[in-house]
Amino acid sequence: MIKRLSNKRILLGVTGGIAAYKSAEICRRLQDEGAEIRTAMTSAAQKFITPLTLQALSRNPVHLDLLDAQTESAMGHIEVARWADLILIAPASADFISRLAQGRSDDLLTAICLAADCKVVVAPSMNRSMWEKKATQNNMGEIQNRKIDILNPGEGDQACGEIGVGRLMEVGNIVNSLSEMFETHSLSGKNVVVTAGPTREAIDPIRYISNHSSGKQGYAIAEAAMEAGAAVTLISGPTNLPVPARVEIVNVGSADEMLEKTLNIIERTDIFISVAAVADFKVESPALSKIKKTGELKLSLELSKTPDILLEISKLKNGRKPFTVGFAAETENLIKNAEKKLREKDLDLIVANNVGDPTIGFDSDLNEVTVLGHELNKSFPKSSKKTLARNLIAFIAERCLESIAYG
Ligand code: C5P
Repeated sequence: MIKRLSNKRILLGVTGGIAAYKSAEICRRLQDEGAEIRTAMTSAAQKFITPLTLQALSRNPVHLDLLDAQTESAMGHIEVARWADLILIAPASADFISRLAQGRSDDLLTAICLAADCKVVVAPSMNRSMWEKKATQNNMGEIQNRKIDILNPGEGDQACGEIGVGRLMEVGNIVNSLSEMFETHSLSGKNVVVTAGPTREAIDPIRYISNHSSGKQGYAIAEAAMEAGAAVTLISGPTNLPVPARVEIVNVGSADEMLEKTLNIIERTDIFISVAAVADFKVESPALSKIKKTGELKLSLELSKTPDILLEISKLKNGRKPFTVGFAAETENLIKNAEKKLREKDLDLIVANNVGDPTIGFDSDLNEVTVLGHELNKSFPKSSKKTLARNLIAFIAERCLESIAYG
């Protein structure tokens, strides 16, 4: 069975209402779909259900306090916000919704929501009269304007004894709705090829030249493209990462091999995203057996250039060139160098990535980039590589459709 939320990190925020007891079930059902769960509770929520319950189910400590030095040093509210692919507040009380509408950040959960770049989803639950009040409805309108998603409450018997609208959405429907939110359809019917990871250029049968690329950004982009409805092939150098579900993997070693496998499928590719950190040089003639240590203090290797895969693809003629996106990993003059590559490699877009900053780039889980195109420049702020990947794919999908529409 396909788990619709595998690899997804969901922060479940619980606020103070009687439906808080259902948060335990939500946690379990989201886990059944493969999601990794962390939980945060307001102090009112802890009057209805104990943190121990959510800690045991989520197998992670519960985030409770904004100003608690110990929990903040373990994983602070900014890190929690960045960790999450999606934040679900269920149940969301009238008071929490009002505080969210005001943009407050004086408790942990509101601070996490304010710090988050990922999707925030609110599942209200309250007495029908509280739900109907203009104050609540105005607050709902305000948070919807800010692109916060609402899982509308249902109608029926309420814990307070009344009948009306205000019941927390059924748990199964919450899980279905969240799963659908990850599937955007913006690339439906498109074939996307992503290259990722490092390449390895052999010195002899034992040794090779490579680089620090972890493959995380490329794998996240492949997954985001798949969620956007594309048929995705991931051509990957050696990494330690799990292959995203429903993505076709082609494992390669060297730059030459990566070029060969890419050319094999490029004819039926609509979008080519070159995230791989391809080695620029290879050993001209790798030794056929292990190079032995000798009395010599030096060993010289003759290097020659590897093929520039991205350039080979962008040079394709007669309508065979896909919409082509490159990455520019730079340590200095980021924008200038990226612009140069955009022009010289004749790309549709280039993603400029400052790998000199140790908090982002290569092995980090975070990244921050600027995308350049012909007369366009858009910054994507620091976020998890997965959130960034989704935002990049949405942007690439828009640009690609525009380029088809305007030729
Ligand atoms: O010129 P530079 O290596 O900085 O360009 C980076 C971009 O080119 C990346 O998108 C990378 O995947 C691609 N590239 C390639 N083949 C190479 C070198 C880089 O496809 N041999």
